[in-house]
Amino acid sequence: MSYQDIYSASLTDPETFWMDAAKAISWDRTPSRALSDLGDDLYEWFADGMVNGCYNAVDRHVENGRGDQLAIIHDSPITGTKSSLSFAQLQDKVARLAGALVANGVTKGDRVIIYMPMVPEALEAMLACARIGAVHSVVFGGFAASELAVRIDDCAPKAVLAASCGLEPGRVVEYKPLLDGAIDLAAHKPDVCLILQRPQASATMIPGRDLDWQSETAKAAPAACVPVEGNHPAYILYTSGTTGAPKGVVRHTGGHLVALNWTMKNIYNVDPGDVFWAASDVGWVVGHSYICYGPLVHGNTTIVFEGKPVGTPDAGTFWRVISEHNVRSFFTAPTAIRAVKREDPKGLEKAKYDISCLRTLYLAGERADPDTIHWAQDLLNIPVIDHWWQTETGYSIAANPMGLDPLPVKVGSPSVAMPGYDIKILDDAGHALPPDTLGAIAIKLPLPPGTLPTLWNAPERFRKSYLQTFPGYYETGDAGMIDKDGYLYIMARTDDVINVAGHRLSTGAMEEVLANHPDVAECAVIGVSDALKGQAPVGFVCLTKGVNRPHADITAECVKLIREKIGPVAAFKLAVVVDRLPKTRSGKILRATMVKIADGASFKMPATIDDPAILDEIRGALQTLGFAKSG
Ligand code: COA
Ligand code: AMP
Repeated sequence: MSYQDIYSASLTDPETFWMDAAKAISWDRTPSRALSDLGDDLYEWFADGMVNGCYNAVDRHVENGRGDQLAIIHDSPITGTKSSLSFAQLQDKVARLAGALVANGVTKGDRVIIYMPMVPEALEAMLACARIGAVHSVVFGGFAASELAVRIDDCAPKAVLAASCGLEPGRVVEYKPLLDGAIDLAAHKPDVCLILQRPQASATMIPGRDLDWQSETAKAAPAACVPVEGNHPAYILYTSGTTGAPKGVVRHTGGHLVALNWTMKNIYNVDPGDVFWAASDVGWVVGHSYICYGPLVHGNTTIVFEGKPVGTPDAGTFWRVISEHNVRSFFTAPTAIRAVKREDPKGLEKAKYDISCLRTLYLAGERADPDTIHWAQDLLNIPVIDHWWQTETGYSIAANPMGLDPLPVKVGSPSVAMPGYDIKILDDAGHALPPDTLGAIAIKLPLPPGTLPTLWNAPERFRKSYLQTFPGYYETGDAGMIDKDGYLYIMARTDDVINVAGHRLSTGAMEEVLANHPDVAECAVIGVSDALKGQAPVGFVCLTKGVNRPHADITAECVKLIREKIGPVAAFKLAVVVDRLPKTRSGKILRATMVKIADGASFKMPATIDDPAILDEIRGALQTLGFAKSG
């Protein structure tokens, strides 16, 4: 069937389409129907099926003769080690870890926070939770203790699974002091922390709460898979919103298994047994869907890579891993390719490796700029596929279905809507716009299986953030257009979210931190264009009356504060003191205009601006930081 036929079928008869896709999943009780309409714009998928995520990702492959196939390859250029686990070995490890959780009182529905670097145990932790119906919430290692504390208080975990450290080039990031600090800060206290001691840092254990991962799993009885309802939460993944409080995206079990499994062949064009590599981190949605669940459920070998695109040890690392492990499909963020291109513009490193195994490169997480796509296409001589998705959806909303019916690539577009996504471009009043017209990107409800049904502990926020602006639609928060051939173009965010090195960050959250500096009366954070990371945050602070300390001291403190409160991942390095911020007459800060000035882009003077002269001061401040070069 052609893409067009499949896409049309998914919209005209979603019930048949998704019930058919669900046949690829092993159910303990087959769902009687795909979609449940709960009313009030709320939907669930496969609600009355019974299923287990771990069984589908691990045990069934052992039962079906794939026990000796590699499930996980760990490649860590940072430690100079490589290892692998077959599906049978993974089953044993996961069952024991699940047993250790059970022995410590964790049962179906309990939350478990996972705070782990890129080691196979991170996947084992996720799968062990899935095995017993516990709901995991993975927290990215680059977040500070206070961000971890916010998540602990929101999801109230019974247990935490953590490693003693993560490894960044040239730096050991000790996780245990961060975890201890977070638990001190949080009102909720987990009963137990299972700590994986890594040789690079030995964690100090707190008696009565902390237990050693290895000894607990060694003595644990293997736990069996617990079937859960199709609408049982598999996990909560926090992502940035407009305010400092992160949104807990909920993922239901049944829909996510069905949808991810569908994408592995149809979008990523891999067959069971093939090696699939997503060079991301388990802390992000890409890591959940395409380092852990997607490939394993589909019977693929997945790679857990502990390294960076450059500097570990060089810009040839990606090509080495692809060549050594026979990678068929490779997925990373455009920023990673830009990093390789900057270090090795002629692609000399690639010539050292035979990467003829690689069929397609997939990019997502931020806008893929045409220069990067062309460079990668010329170097690799394979299709380079941009695809667009969000933490909320769990997999791509728009992509090029390479395993189904590859469509011509239009550079600058993540191609076309995937099954079940009825994408519309709307004006402010919610009217559909014609082709090639810029507007808000919205998706007609219901969203397909595997997408978020709600936010953890925050049904009203879910409604307000996603359902309220355009009744009957999911508001993506992205703006863009669709051309006459149905190709989508993602142009900008419509909210305060910025994208730094493929990481989604909230400028609102950064402003909340800066506003807590005792000398700061008012502030604004904007995302300016950055050649490597796509965007970089820049802070503007107005000082409290009477403060006359050196500005350089205050801005250095601002940078330190954001690193301490949000974490190094915010990559917040630049702040500047200004007298005033540009505002509308009603007091709204004109951040979008500030971004235009920073990027040297032309802009229309906002009609409602209170005092246009302030823009000159902003331009001057930006020029001292090396921005606003023209325009
Ligand atoms: N634990 C602790 N700290 C971390 C971390 C982690 N897991 N990940 C990143 N950090 C730190 C970095 O060490 C850096 O610290 P520094 O300010 O002391 O240098 C800071 O957070 C910013 O990290 P990042 O923005 O990633 O910059 P970088 O200079 O380390 O690397 C790239 C730049 C482009 C190589 C890197 O960002 C990259 O590979 N990006 C790909 C992103 C990706 O895969 N995104 C997922 C969506 S597909
Ligand atoms: P995250 O939730 O971290 O995956 O970030 C989702 C956001 O990243 C989207 O809403 C977009 O703003 C941006 N994004 C992701 N993929 C793409 C893409 N292919 N092109 C443009 N923007 C993208």
